[in-house]
Amino acid sequence: MLNFEYYNPTRIVFGKDQLNRLPELLKEFKAKRILIAYGQGSIVRSGLYQKIVDQLEGFHHVSFQGIEANPEFTTLIKARDLCRTESIDFVLAVGGGSVIDGVKFISGAVPYNGDPWEVLDKKEGCNFTEAIPFGTVLTLPATGSEANSGAVINRSEFEQKRVMGGPMFFPKFSFCDPTQVATLPKRQLANGIVDAYMHTVEQYLTYPSGNLLQERQAEAILATLIEIGPKVIENPSDYTLASNLMWCATHALNGNLRCGVPTDWATHMIGHELTAFYGIDHARTLAIIAPRLYEAMFNDKKEKLAQYGKRIWNLSGSEDEIALKAIEATEEFFQSLGIDTHISDYTENHAGVETRVREVFEERGWTAMGERQAIDPSKVEEIVAAAI
Ligand code: NZQ
Ligand code: ZN
Repeated sequence: MLNFEYYNPTRIVFGKDQLNRLPELLKEFKAKRILIAYGQGSIVRSGLYQKIVDQLEGFHHVSFQGIEANPEFTTLIKARDLCRTESIDFVLAVGGGSVIDGVKFISGAVPYNGDPWEVLDKKEGCNFTEAIPFGTVLTLPATGSEANSGAVINRSEFEQKRVMGGPMFFPKFSFCDPTQVATLPKRQLANGIVDAYMHTVEQYLTYPSGNLLQERQAEAILATLIEIGPKVIENPSDYTLASNLMWCATHALNGNLRCGVPTDWATHMIGHELTAFYGIDHARTLAIIAPRLYEAMFNDKKEKLAQYGKRIWNLSGSEDEIALKAIEATEEFFQSLGIDTHISDYTENHAGVETRVREVFEERGWTAMGERQAIDPSKVEEIVAAAI
């Protein structure tokens, strides 16, 4: 088992009819002037926005509507400016991963004096050093952003998607109410299942770690998602199904699975470029890249692929056969949820995409990725070419 440090201060308030706890939690974190930040309006249509406003009697609050899927830097700068004008001391993110990630960025950008793009661009010496506190009300189980300290920010004018994070960016609290799942479109439900699945495998399909507990925990999440995934898409109002999806997604990326094990994350890094170039939904980029990456890195990953094939898919045969069939089973699972697994399913404009992605990785100096640092830009090019 590898050494590790585990820290997660986010308080999860899980279940239905819990929003009456909101005023008490806001007082605990000394919130007086609150920004409610949300997306394009799903929370207004579902009635959640009004329920939140009803809880905020006695607090000064203003709202910022319009954080997009794949949160846009320029939109978030407008929210930052509003926070400054209104002397906001607490932000409440109400939405999915994009709104929560956007709020993480806003919370760092409000007290930051320079150009926050330089922080995302990892310019030397440019870091967020303070953040205003924030909490979340989750509406889409997928990213785990409600329980972690990472965020991904888009800047379409540059065709770039950048990651940020650090211990300051854990939400103070997150309300996770599975009844919110009921209004999700099938497309977003499928995305949520695949994203949670991929967070788990990024921390599992590597090489044997000797951390038997974390491996079994990862397998428990995968098995649960396979069991409930198709059912929750058909019946998102089923509370038992929805609550299991929500809890799986939180667990997949709250920091627990990475304890003491090697992690990969190359699928995510490549996938972010496909979103930056083509606007393909995050989870779908993962479903496109993962099978091809596992084929390209087969020798490095085959021991864990075989373990996964036996324990999760009940496959039989030689170790190599099981490992190969496990990749096929994974791709078929994604497809069974209605998710296409090739770039050409999403865009006709894919000529040269493999070269473009390789060049981005070269420019950023990302020369050694994956659990063994064996994925270099030319390997990335091979994987993307195979994914077209
Ligand atoms: O904007 P609104 O109107 O709210 O609609 C949203 C949006 O169109 C809608 N939606 C959300 N909850 C709903 C709902 N519609 C009906 N009923 C509800 N209850 O769903 C659409 C997609 O929302 P979004 O927040 O973009 O989806 P998701 O949660 O999948 O987040 C994706 C973003 O998170 C990043 C991704 O890169 C992407 O930008 N990620 C963040 C991570 C993290 N912070 O740890 C890790 C992930 O790997 C991922 O990279
Ligand atoms: Zn993800």
